[in-house]
Amino acid sequence: MTAMQALKDLSAQTDKYQHSEYPEMTVDRLSISVIGLGYVGVVTLGCLANLGFRMHGADIIEKKSNAVNAGRSTIDEEGLGDLLRDSVARGLVQASTDVKDAIRATDMTFLCVGTPESEDGADNFDTIRDASRAVGEVLAEKDGYHVVVVRSSAPPGTTMNVVVPILEEASGKSLNTGFGVCFNPQFFREGVAVADFYAPSKTVIGASDHRAAAMLASVYRLVDDRILMCNITAAEMVKYIDNVWHATKVTFSNEVGRLCKAVEIDSHEVMNIFVQDQKLNLSPYYLKPGFAFGGSCLPQEVRAIEDLAKNFQIQTPLFQSILKSNAMQIEEGLRMIRKFPGKRIGFLGVAFKCDSDDLRDSPALELMAALLNDGTGFSAFDPSLRISEVSRGHFEDVRRSRPKLNELLDYLPKLLRPNLEEVIAESDVLVISHNKDYYRQAVLRRPKGTHVIDLVRLFKDVPDDPTYHGISW
Ligand SMILES: NC(=O)c1ccc[n+]([C@@H]2O[C@H](COP(=O)([O-])OP(=O)(O)OC[C@H]3O[C@@H](n4cnc5c(N)ncnc54)[C@H](O)[C@@H]3O)[C@@H](O)[C@H]2O)c1
Repeated sequence: MTAMQALKDLSAQTDKYQHSEYPEMTVDRLSISVIGLGYVGVVTLGCLANLGFRMHGADIIEKKSNAVNAGRSTIDEEGLGDLLRDSVARGLVQASTDVKDAIRATDMTFLCVGTPESEDGADNFDTIRDASRAVGEVLAEKDGYHVVVVRSSAPPGTTMNVVVPILEEASGKSLNTGFGVCFNPQFFREGVAVADFYAPSKTVIGASDHRAAAMLASVYRLVDDRILMCNITAAEMVKYIDNVWHATKVTFSNEVGRLCKAVEIDSHEVMNIFVQDQKLNLSPYYLKPGFAFGGSCLPQEVRAIEDLAKNFQIQTPLFQSILKSNAMQIEEGLRMIRKFPGKRIGFLGVAFKCDSDDLRDSPALELMAALLNDGTGFSAFDPSLRISEVSRGHFEDVRRSRPKLNELLDYLPKLLRPNLEEVIAESDVLVISHNKDYYRQAVLRRPKGTHVIDLVRLFKDVPDDPTYHGISW
């Protein structure tokens, strides 16, 4: 099964795990070990113990395990000391330096060891390797199914390529028969970690198999009634992407701040208004990978902000990188098309977005201009563009703003077809730049062997078809 198929399979199960077909692992039946009693481990241990789970903590640093045994937190975190004290008094918590003993006594192991940076700045996985080996050696002698839950941050692929092979080798057992593995990123914020644990922003479980997913879901269902399921690599990626997004938000608003200060505008007034817009600004809108942006507003106003920053000599590297990155997405589309030299290309969608006849800064035009330059034959269809009109007003707008597209604009009326079927019939490769149902249907009924370059994610489930090529999926 490919990674993409596995992801589809598990993601489709998200609802199922809200009402799992596997028996509930009630708190009195499930005991859990936590390896590594640093920040993530001790919060996880204290909060799960407080829910009634029997917890076994282990850390190579004796001072930390002693502290937990004595009902004290190893870190300064609001409310955690009280939780640990109560849980130790209820007999729900034990801790030691004996990692193997903790694993032996439990059904599920959370790996919360650190991933320190090496001198070259790369993450060091030696601690994850050591802890995985200890788990595997215990699994070798242990009967019954055990779930290993990785909570340490690690680049996509680490759990399956580093942790699982060590577990299999050390245990002599196979993944999903002797044991299951999950990646369960943690999103609690330092300072309010306990409150965040009990009211999580989201709960994500990447799992190797349904049984492991169901067991871990039954733990988290006590604090979250909507658990997001995916495969392990997707869960690993989610953790990184979340933090990159948070960092981007901070950087974005700081660049707004530097610019506002230079032009004597109160940045907080601007951003207070900005965040009121929950339809376009703080929303899922614009957050799905696809093709480059275009049109009359986005490119022009990004350019204007770039100029403003330059004029005031304000450094705004994030803003300055936006158009460069957008141009790279157009380059990526071109690279995909150029993989079919000598083939005839058919563009479905020409304007900068669907249901519009606005050609200004249309990324599809950039692709066409490059192909014209290459000498590649192509035609195009866009129901919003009427040949008689486009040859007048809209073309003139583009000629004024993008003189390098003049040659393409001279040809375009001859390349535009009045109906979709003509383009499909004369093309070896269809390039889809608008997400419309009539294009989806056209792709499904295209002649066998016609390739599709999808720039807009026409299908929720990516077709398992060697002639279908998605730009970012
Ligand atoms: N701190 C955070 O807010 C945060 C947030 C998200 C993800 N993470 C990730 O979670 C992981 C843990 O982070 P942390 O901040 O808790 O780290 P930490 O350094 O505070 O704690 C790690 C603990 O693991 C112990 N340890 C190391 N090797 C061990 C072994 N073989 N057996 C038993 N114990 C061992 C260490 O002694 C230490 O106490 C890291 O991968 C980190 O990137 C941390």
